[in-house]
Amino acid sequence: MTHLLVTGGAGFIGSNFVHHVIDHTDYQVTVLDKLTYAGNLASLNGLPDDRFAFVHGDITDATVVDDLVARADAVVHYAAESHNDNSLHDPRPFLDTNIIGTFTLLEAARKHGTRFHHISTDEVYGDLELDDPERFTEATPYNPSSPYSSTKAGSDLLVRAWVRSFGLQATISNCSNNYGPYQHVEKFIPRQITNVIRGIRPKLYGAGENVRDWIHADDHSSAVLTILDRGVIGETYLIGADGERNNKAVVELILELMGEPRDAYDHVTDRAGHDLRYAIDSTKLRDELGWRPQFGDFESGLTATIDWYRTNESWWAPAKDSTEAFYASKGQ
Ligand code: NAD
Ligand code: DAU
Repeated sequence: MTHLLVTGGAGFIGSNFVHHVIDHTDYQVTVLDKLTYAGNLASLNGLPDDRFAFVHGDITDATVVDDLVARADAVVHYAAESHNDNSLHDPRPFLDTNIIGTFTLLEAARKHGTRFHHISTDEVYGDLELDDPERFTEATPYNPSSPYSSTKAGSDLLVRAWVRSFGLQATISNCSNNYGPYQHVEKFIPRQITNVIRGIRPKLYGAGENVRDWIHADDHSSAVLTILDRGVIGETYLIGADGERNNKAVVELILELMGEPRDAYDHVTDRAGHDLRYAIDSTKLRDELGWRPQFGDFESGLTATIDWYRTNESWWAPAKDSTEAFYASKGQ
């Protein structure tokens, strides 16, 4: 396998993956990205011209998709509408991109016999109680809560159907919450870091008891490369790094690491249908494929992420005011 087509490669996790692939393999990479509000070409600066190409296009455009899939050895499908809050405000783009876009890619991969890896989320499993001793596994029934997670669940099921019905050479991974560089300021951790930089108090939804299972984006990338390399066709792998923390603890840690009082944040209107807790059991990926996360220490990963946002204000500043205006209109 030498030529990867990476959809959504100008987004947060996709761009981290492209940098990871260029740094750790000799593969060629072509990115297909629509450059929605969430895509940023600057996230792909510095990549070598002889190994990297960018195509501006929509994954729902069958002509563009067919041509690119025909020329790739494998498709790694990150492109999506990814933000739960946006999906509560306007679900339509989530259906178009996450369902129809995935369908369009699957049809091209089927036609050309191309290896396909589908990037998905732990949110397809719904949520857990805070005191539930269980974590999500590959056997957990699907039970998505939001328009975003239900479209991701739908896209996963399409991939499974294309494997079973048409023999598509596909794998799926469902990962927990990522953090790291190049994440849009709409998301929890970068929103709070950039708020503190701007002198705005961080905003915690509700009581802040909701738990997310944090993993560094670079660990997500190494897991995806491992699955591309050694994953069994038709299988699903959960990706997680045992990083459970509640939102209140994360905000307090950000404030402390940025030299502010730990209680200098505001409670704001909660998210509708807010999932309580996600937690991943990644035993299958670790035992069967030998993957291990490298960013074991959340505090040092968060410190590096804070430094990145401090150093790269020109990357995030253009989106900050409009993002905060949108949240303010919803009391968040
Ligand atoms: P993101 O919103 O930062 O990036 C999405 C990218 O997809 C953007 O570059 C955007 O321009 C592009 N895109 C959107 N619609 C498109 C279309 N129709 N055609 C082509 N490109 C389009 O998202 P992210 O956080 O990087 O998430 C990437 C993938 O990883 C998604 O599939 C998401 O469900 C999954 N995921 C995310 C997380 C997380 O914590 N962020 C965790 C697990 C899984
Ligand atoms: O679990 C994987 C998922 O993680 C991915 O599938 C999604 O694409 C990704 O956006 C993320 O979803 P979340 O909804 O968990 O992430 P978000 O960053 O929006 O919020 C994280 C938690 O923080 C959640 O409990 C809501 C809360 N929150 C969020 C924002 C933006 C706040 O308390 N305050 C905020 O300002």
